[in-house]
Amino acid sequence: MSHESPDAITAYNPFQGNRLGLDAPPVAAASAAARTVHVEFADGSTTFFHHQWLRHCCYCQACGNPADGIRFNTVISFESDIAPAAVSAMHGDLTVTWPDGHESVYGPDWLRHHAYDGANRRQRSGWRPTRWRSELVQNFPTVGWTDASDGGAGQLGALQLLRDYGIVQIAGIGTDPAATERLAALVGPIHETTVYGYIYDVKAEPVAKLGAKTGMPQAPHIDDAFYYSPPGIDVFHCMVNTEEGGMSTYVDGFAIAQSLAAEQPDAYELLTTLPISQIRRHPGEIDLRNRGPLISLDEFGRPQGIRYFDRALAPLDVDADVMDAFYNAVREYNRRMIDPAFIAEIRVKPGNGMLIDNHRVMHGRTAFDPSFGRHIRLCHVPRDEFHGRLRELSRTLDPEHHDEYLPQGARS
Ligand SMILES: [Fe+2]
Ligand SMILES: [Zn+2]
Repeated sequence: MSHESPDAITAYNPFQGNRLGLDAPPVAAASAAARTVHVEFADGSTTFFHHQWLRHCCYCQACGNPADGIRFNTVISFESDIAPAAVSAMHGDLTVTWPDGHESVYGPDWLRHHAYDGANRRQRSGWRPTRWRSELVQNFPTVGWTDASDGGAGQLGALQLLRDYGIVQIAGIGTDPAATERLAALVGPIHETTVYGYIYDVKAEPVAKLGAKTGMPQAPHIDDAFYYSPPGIDVFHCMVNTEEGGMSTYVDGFAIAQSLAAEQPDAYELLTTLPISQIRRHPGEIDLRNRGPLISLDEFGRPQGIRYFDRALAPLDVDADVMDAFYNAVREYNRRMIDPAFIAEIRVKPGNGMLIDNHRVMHGRTAFDPSFGRHIRLCHVPRDEFHGRLRELSRTLDPEHHDEYLPQGARS
């Protein structure tokens, strides 16, 4: 049996059909109307599915499924006016027989998690960020390493804090440099970039290529905002800190967005629609540029990503009519970003780490004396990897929420 054989693939992806393996009230009744099939569950709730939607979504072994990419049934496999020859509620499932004799069976759990009537769509779009300001320091989201690395409920708890607050401190990792990779592995594989490499040692150097490697203060910022797809999760591992200065500062970009929407709606409108440009050039090596809104909105009009790095902001390039208003709008964001009311400031202990949603939470530091040897190790993990692991853990440990839509980050 070759490694690529269908049998080998099936071994990794056991056949599931249209089922999730979750608890759900059985299908009690089904009937076909003009364009849709109406389904009633044993708890009395009802929903409906378009005929062609049901035909498209058949995950039987003949049709294949999107999980392993072996799929023989696509939108051009049937016409839009396809209609069932028969529908029935059988053994708690919805069974549909098509005019060509093909039979589809949908489990009630799968149907409920994919239903697109109003209530089910609201449920999937129900996640909300926990926005915070300076008061976060009084109860900083923190999980110990033993829990965070348990591969189960403890790890899920840490990832949920990262999802909800955009930041979580992992305590008690130790100061073995090899632990940086173990910390990153909680959310996914490390993504190497030209600017930071694989793992970047943030410590003061006599000749610094980046501001990070000095003792200078750094205003809160999004790392690498000049990439089309900026690093997803910042992974910080504190090796040595100072006793004076060198405080870590964090700001919730979603809290600033909320404040702008309420207090400066015109500025909010500009920042969510017009592009700013951010740049980074290392002569002879690379010239990185991105144009995109400072605040990206999702399909529901809610913030899904923040992209702002004050020191990397390029000359603005927008219509002359809005130039002054746009500068003012960026200024409104920038002022809040350095306002102590928005900044959570803590001293990170050696041996502790921080996971940060780099499309939402900005990080910075106060000045420190470079001779004290402050040393932070830094690497990045894509956000998709983080959300992907979070969903997979949730599927068994928090199934009700495993398919909630999560913010997909700053748009380019
Ligand atoms: Fe940074
Ligand atoms: Zn099928």
